Amino acid sequence: MSTSNTPTGFTHERVETSNFLMIVLILLVVAVGGLVEIVPLFFQKSTTQAIQGVEPPTALQVVGRDIYVREGCYNCHSQMIRPLRAETLRYGHYSVAGESVYDHPFQWGSKRTGPDLARVGGKYSDEWHRIHLNNPRDVVPESNMPAYTWLEKTPADHASAATHMKALRAVGVPFTDEQVAKAAAEVKGKSEMDALVAYLQSLGLALK
Ligand code: HEC
Repeated sequence: MSTSNTPTGFTHERVETSNFLMIVLILLVVAVGGLVEIVPLFFQKSTTQAIQGVEPPTALQVVGRDIYVREGCYNCHSQMIRPLRAETLRYGHYSVAGESVYDHPFQWGSKRTGPDLARVGGKYSDEWHRIHLNNPRDVVPESNMPAYTWLEKTPADHASAATHMKALRAVGVPFTDEQVAKAAAEVKGKSEMDALVAYLQSLGLALK
């Protein structure tokens, strides 16, 4: 039992009967608990270093990824396979942190109107993706995914590719000066469809 009769000293009753003290101590406990869980993640190799086989994206893939974000594909597609049997049977190896270290901002998501795309790279041909993105019903008759007809007709933005890569480099993606210098030339003449397909085909290959 508590020593509630003790007139002086720090008793539990004093905490329980003081809103202020209670709030301060709860905040303290939550802060310490949170930091103990979060801080080690900044220093663990498994969460901060790319796993073997994960390379920085090409310039075309960087541009394609921006189109993925612009079109809001994440509203219907996650890129995060959970370590549950039903998921790994359907999508393959569960996602690990070392696969997303070059992903800024990451596209993990949780909304799945459509299937998870974390390992869609190599699952279909480029041609399948082109037909599918242009009109999903042409390859999946029951699909309710929107058609992205403008991608094929819109030139990919080659002029800003290098700037995007420099920004990514600032947050830790190890692009070389050569890769940045060649970015515009790599993207020039490609359509947004080319870029988006290049991005999709790169997803999840390191841990097939
Ligand atoms: C309104 C929801 C919705 C949006 C937005 C959406 N999709 Fe989908 N997507 C789906 C559904 C549903 C399917 C499953 C049927 C199909 O294959 O078309 C699908 C399937 C796919 C597949 C095939 C996955 C597989 O493993 O078979 C790919 C690739 C894909 N979407 C890419 C995209 C991209 C890229 C975008 C953005 C440009 C996008 N989707 C936007 C709903 C959506």
